[in-house]
Amino acid sequence: MTEYSIHSSEPLSGHLSVPGDKSISHRAVMLGAIARGTTRVTGLLRGDDVQRTIAAFRACGVQIDETQGCVAIHGAGLGGLKAPHEEIYLGNSGTSMRLLTGIFAAQKFATVLTGDESLSRRPMRRVIRPLRAMGADIALTDDKTAPIHIRPIERLNPINWTVNVASAQVKSAILLACLFVNGKSRVVNPHITRDHTGIMLRAFGSDIVKSGDDYVLTGQRELDAQIIDVPGDFSSAAFFIVAAMIVPGSEILLRNVGLNLTRTGLLSALNLMGGSYSIENRRMMSLESVGDIRVRYSGALKGIEVPQNLVSLMVDEIPILAIAAAAAKGTTVLSGCEELRVKESDRLDSVARGLAALGIEVEERPDGLVIEGGTLRGGQVDSFGDHRIAMAFAVAGAIAEDEVKIINCDCVNTSFPGFPELAGKSGIGIEAHADR
Ligand code: S3P
Repeated sequence: MTEYSIHSSEPLSGHLSVPGDKSISHRAVMLGAIARGTTRVTGLLRGDDVQRTIAAFRACGVQIDETQGCVAIHGAGLGGLKAPHEEIYLGNSGTSMRLLTGIFAAQKFATVLTGDESLSRRPMRRVIRPLRAMGADIALTDDKTAPIHIRPIERLNPINWTVNVASAQVKSAILLACLFVNGKSRVVNPHITRDHTGIMLRAFGSDIVKSGDDYVLTGQRELDAQIIDVPGDFSSAAFFIVAAMIVPGSEILLRNVGLNLTRTGLLSALNLMGGSYSIENRRMMSLESVGDIRVRYSGALKGIEVPQNLVSLMVDEIPILAIAAAAAKGTTVLSGCEELRVKESDRLDSVARGLAALGIEVEERPDGLVIEGGTLRGGQVDSFGDHRIAMAFAVAGAIAEDEVKIINCDCVNTSFPGFPELAGKSGIGIEAHADR
């Protein structure tokens, strides 16, 4: 098991590039696998989670060639996936499990999807309900969790469904299932969540029409292979954005980061807290908005009441926002975050425990946190096997008075291989080592 020790920090400086966007990487592999022809992807995230998606398609007979710079996916077409010989293990990857359930629900062969202990605790009924309404034959455990047993069906029917949970994974699972259906389906999303699936479906030539965050998709149109360039993951850049805002004297340029507006709520929240950044070189890459983010330390942040409408636009950034709040002057109130309880860990609880271990006053509420900004002491923090908790507290360590030790950090490889090395290069005094 890997542990991190963070003992201090220089001001952060330099030009940094974070690995490819996890959400976009999963979708590039999935759509590439069911398209016709060879999709070539550069910048694909080489983390454990995306490897699970790659392995799932290889198990269904799709040839995927990985070289250093490019991943080539030799698509099987809409009807071309083959029955896997065994259960498909998806590790810690919620995105793989939920989105693949949408694809496998429409196949004429059976699949069983399993995951690690954390993934096997996460709620799956939210994806199964709409798929069953389309005619899918899927069974969960009594707790409504994985393993997911998907039985073969002759065909699915079109659907008109309102997604009642703020979840891009649910929305995406339905859209992916609809690709295989003869007819027009409608997916209505009252909560705005990341829209990478809709964007990439359009890039692959599917018959999809978007209005707001609602979609009408006509299925059974073959997708055409694409060349996809994956931008850096905003959720990974977020750790460095906050680090540069709380370590005095810092100035960094984060290059080539995805700036899709459904992902960048953290920038709005940090702006309200008095943080300063600028966007340079804004451009489009594979229909996604991308740019370079320059962040400068500009004095202490101040506590705020975080507007609830930002939560679904920064759902993965709440742990690092909590670190910004701990470093800020005054009180920060986070509410409307109940979804964080069913992520890789119960993130409200993990964050509250970690902050308390570092001497920060924090109140845990059913749907949020109240954080009193203060001085972070040294101490030991458990990531609870959650990558975003491990990395958020590594940033906390950069401003703590004494050494911060974080245990249980192997999970960081799910989304950010090379994190401790990049953090060290930026100026953070971090060491990663096997536990002693
Ligand atoms: C993701 C959607 C979000 C996010 C997850 C990735 C995606 O989950 O937390 O890390 O790629 O669709 P929910 O859709 O469950 O909120």
